[in-house]
Amino acid sequence: MAGYREFHRRSIEDRDGFWAEQAKLIDWHKPFGKVLEYARPPFAKWFVGGETNLCHNALDRHLAARGEQKALVWISTEVNQEKSFTYREVHAEVQRVAAMMVSLGVKKGDRVIIYMPMVPEAFFAMLACARIGAVHSVVFGGFAAASLAARIDDARPSLMLTADGGSRMGKTVLYKPLVDESLRLAKNPPAKVLILRRGFDVNMRNVAGRDVDWQELAAQHAGARVACTWVESNEPSYILYTSGTTGQPKGVQRDVGGYAVALAASMKHIFCGDAGETMFTTSDIGWVVGHSYIVYAPLLAGMTTIMYEGVPVRPDAGIWWKIVQDHRANVMFSAPTAIRVLKKQDPAYLSKYDLSSLKHLFLAGEPLDEPTHQWIAEALKKPVVDHYWQTESGWPILSAMPGVEKTPLKYGSPSFAVYGYDLRLLRESDASEAGADEKAVVAIVPPLPPGCMSTVWGDDERFVKTYFSNFSKKMVYSTFDWGIRDQDGYYFILGRTDDVINVAGHRLGTREIEEAVSMHANIAECAVVGVADALKGQMPLAFAVAKDTSKLVSAEGRKHLEKEVMQTVDNQLGAIARPRAVHFVTLLPKTRSGKTLRRLIQALAEGRDPGDLTTIEDPGALEQIRNSLKEG
Ligand code: PRX
Repeated sequence: MAGYREFHRRSIEDRDGFWAEQAKLIDWHKPFGKVLEYARPPFAKWFVGGETNLCHNALDRHLAARGEQKALVWISTEVNQEKSFTYREVHAEVQRVAAMMVSLGVKKGDRVIIYMPMVPEAFFAMLACARIGAVHSVVFGGFAAASLAARIDDARPSLMLTADGGSRMGKTVLYKPLVDESLRLAKNPPAKVLILRRGFDVNMRNVAGRDVDWQELAAQHAGARVACTWVESNEPSYILYTSGTTGQPKGVQRDVGGYAVALAASMKHIFCGDAGETMFTTSDIGWVVGHSYIVYAPLLAGMTTIMYEGVPVRPDAGIWWKIVQDHRANVMFSAPTAIRVLKKQDPAYLSKYDLSSLKHLFLAGEPLDEPTHQWIAEALKKPVVDHYWQTESGWPILSAMPGVEKTPLKYGSPSFAVYGYDLRLLRESDASEAGADEKAVVAIVPPLPPGCMSTVWGDDERFVKTYFSNFSKKMVYSTFDWGIRDQDGYYFILGRTDDVINVAGHRLGTREIEEAVSMHANIAECAVVGVADALKGQMPLAFAVAKDTSKLVSAEGRKHLEKEVMQTVDNQLGAIARPRAVHFVTLLPKTRSGKTLRRLIQALAEGRDPGDLTTIEDPGALEQIRNSLKEG
């Protein structure tokens, strides 16, 4: 591991030298004066004074050498369509969308909410924002109206981009009614909404003066030329909301220069994606993986990126491998849940296709269990790289780095700290460093490397308080994950230290779900915990106290209220947050000071020993939880 060790050492001990070298991977309109400015810890400013543009680096820079190479291959098994766009074509489409946005009044620094299905226009829109210096905030299409409204109010966008609808598993999902509802709920709705018609909603009605037809406006801007707006490296490129301990999602703010450099470097050192090759990332543009590894990083590296609208098992469980074969994909990035889903299918799907182009499969977003890791590695006969990171980091924190050195992989482990991260395992009690095989909090000594979040949008104080104030003795970044390092130096991630749960790789806050459950008129209070699930990793489970219990005496009555509560969660947050079950109790286990004992509930729900029970105010609450679980 000498090569890796030296690379990592240099990234920490000679930060400026290391990152100045990586910064050569992108174009700078104006060179930066300082590699790192760290005058106001923990706020790190990278490549200060440098001017660049993400869209220029993703597209314009490649036109001379690879204008006719495919930049984007869009495949939809939902509408059975496939479209390819060369770098030159994407460049033209992006300029057209940029011109459309400018015509609707969008200026540098303005926020644009993108609430769209996985269509090429969404991809163009992200790059168009980057081109004109607007700040995009993509909201995952599975989020409900109330969640969308909360993000609108926080970001205060001047424009929102959406579509009439999308499709999931062959079933139409209408977007427009949900958007209308979110704009009714929002206190700061955008003045304009640009709507792409896909033909899903023939009865769609536009609101006069607010709604603009995408295709009509696009027709007026055919052949538009919009120059890149050069921005200082530390200006915001985007906001992406993510869940945490509180009910209010945080707007993770990212910069421009640091992000471009970090992504370009990760393609070289971690993902081994070369110009002219093809990358297939199965995520969604609504998540950080989609931002980094469907849109920006593959293009920064001069690759062809595949954008897929559909599920892994339709038309059959061989679809992803067929895509790899047909498009000669070299790098693939997916999530453990998807692999667990495929593991339940006929293994013949894996040998049916020619996967010889594929160099690595990268998996992230949730714990990768050993059996699944081993199964997919043996079935593919390729290195399968588990790697660990967060919305906050924007790119890997722990990973093998085959571009630096080919180190042996261990099943269930995301290997080692990535260059740039001064990673530590700290004891929760006193922030001292844990020894080998000792469970502790995964922490990063600041400054965070380039590409990581700059701050919480509009709330510097929350950034410091949330991430850097967990240890009283040291100002370190807490990942809120437990981890251990074995005798050989390999890390293993053991789950979150906070109330965040991970459902099929989707990060959700149990507090958010609790707030959603409590929106039902008959719920007095509730506790939501994440319980282990063989397929999805975790699932939310709700325990609720009803105001009026008269209808809960019969099993039928309980089922009815459970269904209503689930519907309320669907409406508030979206179906991805729907609890697996809602159990009704008359009191929740609490401490004497009134804190709900979620960990205890979680232990009982997972059939584990709840441990110390002395802090419980009323042990009867425990019995109720046990009984409700028994009743199923
Ligand atoms: O708990 C960790 C888990 O997912 C969280 C971050 O989720 P998100 O912000 O959606 O970003 C995903 C980017 C890939 C982490 O705090 N997590 C992510 N990767 C892994 C993981 N847990 C275990 N192993 C991983 N490889």
